Amino acid sequence: MKIGLLGHGVVGGGVRAIIDEGATWEVRELEIAKILVKDESEMVDPRTTLHAEDILNDPSIEVVAECMGGLEPAHTLLKKALQKGKHVVTSNKKMLATYCEDLFETARENGVTVHYEASCGGGIPWMASLDRTRRVDDIDSFRGIFNGTTNYILSRMYSEGTDFEEMLKEAQELGYAERDPSDDIDGHDVRYKVSLSCVKAFDTLQNIQDIVTYGIRNIRKEDLDWAKANGYACKLIGTGAYRGDFISACVIPMFLKKDDVFANIPLNFNAIESRSKTLGPATFVGQGAGSLPTAHAVVQNLIDIWKNQDPEINDKSIRPIDNTLHTGVFYIRTKKIALFADIMDRRISEDAFLTRKISLVQADMAVKSAVDDTLFIAEVAE
Ligand code: HSE
Repeated sequence: MKIGLLGHGVVGGGVRAIIDEGATWEVRELEIAKILVKDESEMVDPRTTLHAEDILNDPSIEVVAECMGGLEPAHTLLKKALQKGKHVVTSNKKMLATYCEDLFETARENGVTVHYEASCGGGIPWMASLDRTRRVDDIDSFRGIFNGTTNYILSRMYSEGTDFEEMLKEAQELGYAERDPSDDIDGHDVRYKVSLSCVKAFDTLQNIQDIVTYGIRNIRKEDLDWAKANGYACKLIGTGAYRGDFISACVIPMFLKKDDVFANIPLNFNAIESRSKTLGPATFVGQGAGSLPTAHAVVQNLIDIWKNQDPEINDKSIRPIDNTLHTGVFYIRTKKIALFADIMDRRISEDAFLTRKISLVQADMAVKSAVDDTLFIAEVAE
């Protein structure tokens, strides 16, 4: 099966390497026919081209694998590929979460499919497991440590007693962080992954801006000191739950009890768990990023297409997000503590307190109306 590869960076280079090596008979059925690269400096392989048309207009190429990242030109190129009757595989969570409805509709109209295992959880077979679970069960909810960069930062801050900036720098030096680390530390990367997990888990599309999202940009050593002293670890968690006519979905730092399996996921690892009626909790732990783990997931999708083992239907409709049924106790540190009297249960320090049990919507409204760019919020596990 001939493949056109868009992008030859960290992930694209890994896809090319795995397919060229051909370690199994299934991989040997795949062939990278052409590779779209950014500029002449990347033209190190006879298959490389600077012109997307060389791939889009080649009728022998059945599948386009996109590993470019970014919104454009990735979105436009994949749309054109679908219109030309080519299946599409992508690792690009930001682009797909943003243009899911458009690309799925184009795929349906042209009798082809969009595959995206690598967009979420890197090498962890998370999307495939949701498909498989759903052959038997409805998924009730999922939660995950979906971002390796922030897990690395939080793990190191926790074990070393250091502050945020120092550990962000370390994560960047190790190559974990996105080029613009705000996608990682402000929770947007997890928001895209939660949105795409909802598509698989609940068969619904969402408006991504409705997913309540808090990151770890403002976390300080004193927040983790309080968590540690009270028997908690801190992790950035993305969750989704099926609630009939609505979906609840959010991204928020959580203070988890130390015996929670997620509290002990170290360094840059990811962990993701689904819950369904007969299977109960099913938890996956592994490398959520990196060249070969992510490329592995892309190649798995390519083999699915070649084998015609194609559970993708791409036939989803938008379901609204409503977080009023998500309730909990929240830890909030803010320089405007006087504004929070209505939801406060117990003061912890001069500028931090615990809320009474409230909905995420109430917490979010109180935080947004305080307009404090130093505020840190975490949900405290019951
Ligand atoms: N920056 C992301 C992470 C890469 O740290 O998990 C994988 O999506």
